Amino acid sequence: MKQKDVIIALDFKDKAETLAFLDRFTEEKPFVKIGMELFYGEGPDIVREIKARGHSIFLDLKLHDIPMTVRKAMRNLARLGVDMTNVHAAGTADMMKAALEGLREGAQEAGLPCAKLIAVTQLTSTSEERMQRELLINAPINDTIIHYAKNAKEAGLCGVVCSPLEAAMVKEACGKEFLTVTPGIRYPGAGVQDQVRVTSPSDAKEIGTDYIVVGRPITAAEDPVAAYHRVCGDFL
Ligand code: C5P
Repeated sequence: MKQKDVIIALDFKDKAETLAFLDRFTEEKPFVKIGMELFYGEGPDIVREIKARGHSIFLDLKLHDIPMTVRKAMRNLARLGVDMTNVHAAGTADMMKAALEGLREGAQEAGLPCAKLIAVTQLTSTSEERMQRELLINAPINDTIIHYAKNAKEAGLCGVVCSPLEAAMVKEACGKEFLTVTPGIRYPGAGVQDQVRVTSPSDAKEIGTDYIVVGRPITAAEDPVAAYHRVCGDFL
């Protein structure tokens, strides 16, 4: 697993569509992200199958529950041999520590390397206004992102998911070794769909984020392999 990479979001409805997409990549095995839709639809076997094909996997299930439950769930996920996975920082530092313990236990039991554990700070779909009004968090959203990132670091996690525009402030607060994994990547002039704050691959490189997560600019492209190469050329 590289320390800086392009991660393709496999936001497909089922295994058949997903594998047909991956079959197009004959020369290389891109790092991929498996999210809730695919995991809940196909079960853990989809992870095993894609892993067996030689891809690095970010399993994006955003766990958030009481610490013991998260610890046991992570122990099971670790046995799948994923390379990166995540929890919600809102579950507290105790929950994040428990998640890390579970991940380490599971990896050790299975004789596998331990996955990188990262935290979601504030979802990019949560606006500052809603966070304050509905969640009663009476602080600027950037302060909560930094605070949650620091909690994640203290709990022993190795990074956070954040928008590229937040990556610089997270690095400043938590150090440049603390990983930032950033979705919301778009080329100027292309449709942004439901993403609001977007950044191009070369700007993400400039900002110094470690991993970019790219979905539709690659998966919906006429030639996904060429689109992937373009993104890699601009970011890596
Ligand atoms: O297609 P697109 O490039 O927008 O896909 C981005 C991927 O990153 C999707 O899988 C989306 O769920 C995920 N993501 C995001 N924003 C976050 C966290 C995850 O867009 N804050």
